[in-house]
Amino acid sequence: MDLRKQVERLNKIGIALSGETNLRTLLELILLEARGFTDSDAGSLYIKEDDKLSFEVAQNNTLDKRSGGKEVFKPFPLPMTKKSIAGYAAITGKILNIEDVYEIPATEEYSFNPDFDKRNNYRTKSMLVVPMMDHEEEIIGVLQLINSISKYSKVNTFDKEYEDLVSSLASQAAVAIRNARLIDDIKRLFESLVQYSASAIDARSPHTAGHSKRVAQLAIRVAKAINKMNSGPFAEIFFTQPELEELGYAAWLHDIGKIGVREFVLEKANKLSDDRIDSIMNRFALIKSSIEKRFMEEKIIFIESGRKDEEYLKEIEEGMKRDIKEVDEDIEFLTRINKSNFTSDEDIKRLRNISKKRYLSSSGKEEYYLTEFEYNNLSVRKGNLTPDEYKIIQSHVMHTINILNNIPFTKNLKKVPVFAAAHHEMLNGTGYPGGLKDREIPVQARILCIVDIFDALTAGDRPYRPSIPLDKALNMLRSAAKENCLDSNIVELFISERLYEDIDN
Ligand SMILES: [Fe+2]
Ligand SMILES: [Fe+2]
Repeated sequence: MDLRKQVERLNKIGIALSGETNLRTLLELILLEARGFTDSDAGSLYIKEDDKLSFEVAQNNTLDKRSGGKEVFKPFPLPMTKKSIAGYAAITGKILNIEDVYEIPATEEYSFNPDFDKRNNYRTKSMLVVPMMDHEEEIIGVLQLINSISKYSKVNTFDKEYEDLVSSLASQAAVAIRNARLIDDIKRLFESLVQYSASAIDARSPHTAGHSKRVAQLAIRVAKAINKMNSGPFAEIFFTQPELEELGYAAWLHDIGKIGVREFVLEKANKLSDDRIDSIMNRFALIKSSIEKRFMEEKIIFIESGRKDEEYLKEIEEGMKRDIKEVDEDIEFLTRINKSNFTSDEDIKRLRNISKKRYLSSSGKEEYYLTEFEYNNLSVRKGNLTPDEYKIIQSHVMHTINILNNIPFTKNLKKVPVFAAAHHEMLNGTGYPGGLKDREIPVQARILCIVDIFDALTAGDRPYRPSIPLDKALNMLRSAAKENCLDSNIVELFISERLYEDIDN
């Protein structure tokens, strides 16, 4: 290849390298291109990390052909000393062009380690070792090219002219690595910030601690299971790596808006708070003592009147006992319905009767047994939230949308707000906040909706309410799918592939 063509090729490689931001793919690409450029049978790439050299990539054509495929290579650290060839190049910044690594004179500081050759029955001969230096002349790593193959499949020494050309490629590679690392660092920073914030918001309430983390794990599992389906309803759907990332972020952030929901609603364990129940108990104790007082007063009047009618006295005493028993039964009833998740018509009727009863308060005023607020809260039929409180809880989605719309997501993550915003939408249009229907709900949001409900039902970290058994929770998902609330294909996949198993808390 003439020089002009080589420079052209080098340019193309440079462009390809600067376009790759995934560090792992980039490192593989650098070595592959450098090998292609120099017709090397094999090569290794090392990255400098503090006082160590990390052996990051190994490629070997001969061995790949022999084993019928590339073996999985796990990076490992090496001490950075001048004794190894790569270490020498990394420390001194010198290019080494070695004709035969088994013939390195003993006078050199570095030597060749033949372990790899022995283990793999390979013969390393020529080697071109080039330090990768960035624009600030800092050595980022080392590129080690092995066995330059001639047209006739013979191992040659690397051409002298490759030294400068590979060195120039190595510099471009160094800059690309630097950028990819920077992007990697920023990504990691953003990821941990998102995860930390979401976990902290979840942890405000024992009801939701760990929720977003589990939802993210479950959502990714579902998406990966969909990717494996080559036929059936998911044949046309495939989530790329960036799309999986986007879904993961939407899952982590879907309830971020709960930061705008007041704690007492999130924390609500029963229909009324302990404070309010205590105040009812005190009131009812007062009611009981006022019944006793009334009886005592009647008794005094009776004695003072000089009547000898014992039967009458007994009668008013029985009456007092009956009244007190009734109050005790009311207390028992109120305690029960305060904690129950389902209140029957009969219970509501009884509650109404209690609320209409009156007693004489300490100020001498006639008051109802229950306040309007207490009655409204206790008369909730399902769950423990009043309609107003439901609205407050539901408002978390609007808060989520407002927060996420203000985050300048990168191109790959631009739909995070859309997916997160639709995690309470139902296929039949009964969800919120948009009342979206069918196709209006992206598949990512459908996944989120299902795993979100599943986690809310089964989460084991609810101190006040036992979690629902697994089979019951799965049946609930199925019946919600039957009512066309949830996507039945995703629900069935979730159940048949047992995607809910072994979730990390
Ligand atoms: Fe939510
Ligand atoms: Fe949620």
